[in-house]
Amino acid sequence: MASKELLELLNKAIARELQVTIQYMWQHVLWKGVEGFAVKDELKSIAIAEMKHAEAIAERLAYLDGTPTVKPDPIFVGGSLKEMIEKDKKDEETAISLYEKIIKKSQNEDDSTTARLFRKILQDEEEHHDTFSGLLEGM
Ligand SMILES: [Fe+2]
Ligand SMILES: [Fe+2]
Repeated sequence: MASKELLELLNKAIARELQVTIQYMWQHVLWKGVEGFAVKDELKSIAIAEMKHAEAIAERLAYLDGTPTVKPDPIFVGGSLKEMIEKDKKDEETAISLYEKIIKKSQNEDDSTTARLFRKILQDEEEHHDTFSGLLEGM
């Protein structure tokens, strides 16, 4: 039986996955300008990856008898490309520390399935963080 704290952490994770799904998708749609051309495709594919994370975490939470939130964390679109990517990089850092916490917590509760799920997602978030860091270096 998962603890209330673990279920709450999973809902925190869902809220931020929903946030970045919309955030990256809207940044992809709204960004205009030649310099952002390569970035647009990147934002689109990362948005889709985040949506899959939200779905996988919600499925796990429902299995553990929790109720997945429908409310995203505050969404930031940004006025300039640099502003967008700086925020996105920070949001990936937030994900990384939250997911490390969830992995530890689920291990403590002998929930190896949740730990395994978040290890896989963590790997994606580290890649996203690396992508945004790389993009920022060129700005
Ligand atoms: Fe994600
Ligand atoms: Fe991510």
